[in-house]
Amino acid sequence: MAVIQIRNTGETISGETEVRQFLESQEVLYEYWDPTKLPESLQNVCHLNDENKEQVLATFDEEIRSLAERRGYKNWDVIALNEDTPDLEALLKKFEQVHTHTEDEVRAITAGSGTFVIKGEDTGYFDVNLSPGDVISVPVNVPHFFTLSDERQVVAVRLFIDPEGWVAHSFNDPDFQK
Ligand SMILES: [Fe+2]
Repeated sequence: MAVIQIRNTGETISGETEVRQFLESQEVLYEYWDPTKLPESLQNVCHLNDENKEQVLATFDEEIRSLAERRGYKNWDVIALNEDTPDLEALLKKFEQVHTHTEDEVRAITAGSGTFVIKGEDTGYFDVNLSPGDVISVPVNVPHFFTLSDERQVVAVRLFIDPEGWVAHSFNDPDFQK
């Protein structure tokens, strides 16, 4: 279950009801897909071949199609990052820049962990620390970035309305402090 930290105040928000309420107030979609539905050989495994990625998509086919139907996503895929990912550190540096998109950014974490840092309406930046099962969507035009946690590995299902149009627009925010 996701845990939230508000950067300005250091406040932590945990517990299903509190997390859902907070994310709802920020217009961030939150869902939970049961990660124990995965075959045991893939549970919390972040080194995946193409066949494994297809297995992840097949496992959550119902959840993916339900979300896609409700919110208009047309395509989906699986991304896996781990210590064997070429140029992982350079990739993370690129990720860790505040940016926006003209469509929402949906990620379902199925293994490993990661953090979305999102600019709240009134709260300033907050961290959403995600573990397997957590599904969030950062709204259109909301400044944010994604990074890995200390375990440095993640598997996520990504859903797109238009993969061609899913481009990061950098957002230089004087309010942002790491
Ligand atoms: Fe993004």
